[in-house]
Amino acid sequence: MHPPIVDHLISTIFISIWFAVANSHVIYKYHPEHERLSWKSLALLFVSPSVLTLISYQFGFGTFHQITGWTAEEHLISILSQISITLEILVLSLPIFLYRKVIKSSNYWLALVLCLEFSCADSMSTILSVDLPTKLLAFTVLQLIVYVDYKGCFSYIMASDNSINRKVIAGYMVALKVVLSEMLSASMIFTVRQSQFTFRMLWIDFIALIVAAFFSAFFKMGISSARESDIKLDYMNKFLHAQENIIQTFAEIMEAKSGETGKHVRRVAEYSQLLAKKLGQDTENAAYIRVASMMHDVGKLMIPLEILEKQGSLDEKEFEIMKTHTTYGDQLLSHSDGTVMNIARDIAYEHHEKWDGSGYPRGLHGDQISLTAQIVAVADVYDALTSKRAYKDAWPPETAKAEILNQTGKHFSPAVVDAFCSCYNDIEIIRKAYPD
Ligand SMILES: [Fe+2]
Repeated sequence: MHPPIVDHLISTIFISIWFAVANSHVIYKYHPEHERLSWKSLALLFVSPSVLTLISYQFGFGTFHQITGWTAEEHLISILSQISITLEILVLSLPIFLYRKVIKSSNYWLALVLCLEFSCADSMSTILSVDLPTKLLAFTVLQLIVYVDYKGCFSYIMASDNSINRKVIAGYMVALKVVLSEMLSASMIFTVRQSQFTFRMLWIDFIALIVAAFFSAFFKMGISSARESDIKLDYMNKFLHAQENIIQTFAEIMEAKSGETGKHVRRVAEYSQLLAKKLGQDTENAAYIRVASMMHDVGKLMIPLEILEKQGSLDEKEFEIMKTHTTYGDQLLSHSDGTVMNIARDIAYEHHEKWDGSGYPRGLHGDQISLTAQIVAVADVYDALTSKRAYKDAWPPETAKAEILNQTGKHFSPAVVDAFCSCYNDIEIIRKAYPD
């Protein structure tokens, strides 16, 4: 038996006020720059998950009843509850969207977790209650427990930027919401929820509490593993940053020696990271490629100055010597170990190989060339074309882009050129951000 509409309405208003007050507190605590909270609190009142659940439930119930004409309570509830659960999950997207706007968070997962927490408490209190007063009491007690128990977790969720782990946590919340909604529907169908205490009711309450306890444990496990991975990530970032600073300084010295003045190394690194991401590399790998690409010409340290600093084109013999900067790069980096250094070695050795096999030093072709070297080849050439050198003027960006396109399948990998074209606007933003 579903609760009468008046009871449903009162509990919805009660829960919405809780939602608005609790979240206004959150906004004030974590976003103290918002001085005027009044309209935002009011907005949260109207977009609370329970208001939309009520609307979707009543809309779904009425429409279904009108279409089928079914009056049998059991039929109605059993089919409608499935539709209602789906609708509830769908309508949650609206408060999530608005809530995200109100708290000015760019993360939908965060808003989803916050809205689902209220929605789950709503379902849970309905399962545990027998009438309106007991539901309001159960909801209040649940909220207080959640507030005390999850205080630390909540601060972490608000402060952390770890969206990967938020997805897991949001997944637990969605699963809990679905399970609780199914249990609520089952309790209606089997008329467990009555206006007086029964052992059937106790039985379903017990199951609901166990389910919630399990999900709560998973939720906390998710938070603690997110915290741990944040610490590791932070350590790794610091380490990578220190390594990057050393490599960049080293690359700049090398750059000055080879006559490629300006921000060539920096731009090639940024282009390479962007292309790597576009080609599906994860954030961590793309960051490695960014650092490693700075060393693509490390072998030039072994090339005589008169060749490096020569004004004008190199003759055949000089060019043969110049080509050896790739093999020297491979040798210089072969003494180092670790992910970044291994990538750097591939890049230094293969960044002058060409897709059609006409490059040097080994004449590799196609995917024999490592993806990282394929990426840096495009980044390096585009930057060389758009920069001024002793032997040439800077090409206009559009002409350089046309040349890259023209070399698809000849010099460059078609996949990398595709990625280059699809993020060309960002490439240009980087080029302008690091002028010579
Ligand atoms: Fe090179």
